[in-house]
Amino acid sequence: MSNYLFESDEEFKFFMGDTLAYNNMQNMVSKLVSFIKPQYMVEFGSGSGATSIRLAKENPQTSIVAVDLREKMVGIGADKSSKNRIKNVTFVNGDLTKLGNFNLKNASLILMMYSFRYIADPVQNKYDFLKDLYDHMSKGSYVIIGETFIDENASKQTIRKQLEDRYYNNSKDIYWANLKGLSKEDVMNALTIQSKHRETTKEQIELGVNRDGIYYISREWMFENAPKIGFEIVLGERLNSLSDTIFVLKK
Ligand SMILES: C[S@@+](CC[C@H](N)C(=O)[O-])C[C@H]1O[C@@H](n2cnc3c(N)ncnc32)[C@H](O)[C@@H]1O
Repeated sequence: MSNYLFESDEEFKFFMGDTLAYNNMQNMVSKLVSFIKPQYMVEFGSGSGATSIRLAKENPQTSIVAVDLREKMVGIGADKSSKNRIKNVTFVNGDLTKLGNFNLKNASLILMMYSFRYIADPVQNKYDFLKDLYDHMSKGSYVIIGETFIDENASKQTIRKQLEDRYYNNSKDIYWANLKGLSKEDVMNALTIQSKHRETTKEQIELGVNRDGIYYISREWMFENAPKIGFEIVLGERLNSLSDTIFVLKK
């Protein structure tokens, strides 16, 4: 069982790229990047590159390095960007937990969208990662973390319910995005994709609940720990009722 919701660009389009939650997160990140106007930024955990490619197109003056652990994803991103002749984004294979491998001193923005969850337990590792990130950054630069958060000290049952609500809500978007007409086949096709999404996300929910490959944290954790490291929390706002939140931290 994989801890990734999508393993290819096709799966990304089925399972994530068309959900309101994902689109909304990406729209707000795009808005924040237009405020920061970085000359150089890094996205950690860029997946198939959807966000980095969009940001590169919207901000032609910004150089973007998009880093992902999975070589296959790096290939997809590089392929997509070269087809579209986007010169200001580079896809790199690398591990975000090994920050010494990256030049972050010149980056005015580090972006993590749905990738903070992959920093494995114990939760102290997330603290150590943020501390290490802080030490590698220059003063005045930003970190944007867009993530799904869970309630502080919630029971497994509560967390399962929270994640189910999130994913089942997404699967409604998947249904409508994949409805291509009103013939019997079209309706059946949308239903089939929706039910495949539910099966796959059921597995994802269990990984998150059991902290097995996916490790969510609470908003409270971030509010408490980011300032201890030295970050100013510029904003920590929910995006929707599904517990997706964007944190903007500044060194
Ligand atoms: C949910 S996807 C992110 C999607 C992407 N940010 C977007 O906006 O479309 C999370 C990605 O994080 C990557 N990832 C997980 N652990 C990582 C690590 N230690 N270093 C770099 N990338 C990692 C995974 O391979 C996966 O592609």
